[in-house]
Amino acid sequence: MNLNYLKDVAVAAAFEAGTLIRTKLGRIEKVEHKGAIDLVTEADREAEALIVALIRRQFKDHAILAEERGQEQGRADRLWIVDPLDGTTNFAHGIETCCVSIAFAAEGETLLGVVLNPFAHELFVALKGHGAWMNSRPATVSRRKAIAESLLVTGFPYNIREVMGSTMPRFSRCLEASQGIRRLGSAALDLCYVAAGRFEAFWEENLKPWDTAAGALMVTEAGGRVSDFDGQTYDRNGNAIVASNGKIHAQMLKLLHLKGTE
Ligand code: IPD
Ligand code: CA
Ligand code: CA
Repeated sequence: MNLNYLKDVAVAAAFEAGTLIRTKLGRIEKVEHKGAIDLVTEADREAEALIVALIRRQFKDHAILAEERGQEQGRADRLWIVDPLDGTTNFAHGIETCCVSIAFAAEGETLLGVVLNPFAHELFVALKGHGAWMNSRPATVSRRKAIAESLLVTGFPYNIREVMGSTMPRFSRCLEASQGIRRLGSAALDLCYVAAGRFEAFWEENLKPWDTAAGALMVTEAGGRVSDFDGQTYDRNGNAIVASNGKIHAQMLKLLHLKGTE
């Protein structure tokens, strides 16, 4: 398996989709609802179609898990995981904080992550065992050790109305302990910003594999740590993710651990 070739295909697909997303910003006429606050636009669907077609052309027998169409047929041990537009709510409001996220996994293990913000012209690439890059320069997590000096980022899941009871205590504990919290609206970019040392940590619940697969590899390849809220190995099909520079990971786990404080 030629990982560099896989990367070239993923990057080409991300740029194709990114160009489409750029041209559509502010020009979307119809926004549909997948749930009460979960949106989808023609840009999500068209960007996904471009990416899937490009991958299919190169790797006919690979499986593809893409947000809007679900799992496509193919060999289970070669899986592409695609979020054609992460940050749809931002995009639908004309906000440029969004990205294309593409990951590739072999035998279950994520080997490649590509995330492109086509507005900021920022391309993040991670290759398992080789490192992470932002626009061809090595990406490394921040070295801050003190939570009080750490800038954190989080997101709120689409079922937020059902999980307020656990989300808000975690939020207020982290807010009190840290320098501040941001909510960008794109989980893939949140993770890439941890990898690039802009944030010290990110956490969120109820994300999907297409939100986190590429970004989680970015963080570990940039020297950070990714786990669930109990500190167990991150599972892209799991329910919770905390990603950090490693240095403040234990402190984050403590803040996110609610048992006994609920
Ligand atoms: C969403 C974004 C957002 C996060 C949501 C995700 P989408 O993805 O990543 O930041 O808070 O939980 O579902 O719908 O824009 O692809
Ligand atoms: Ca997403
Ligand atoms: Ca999406």
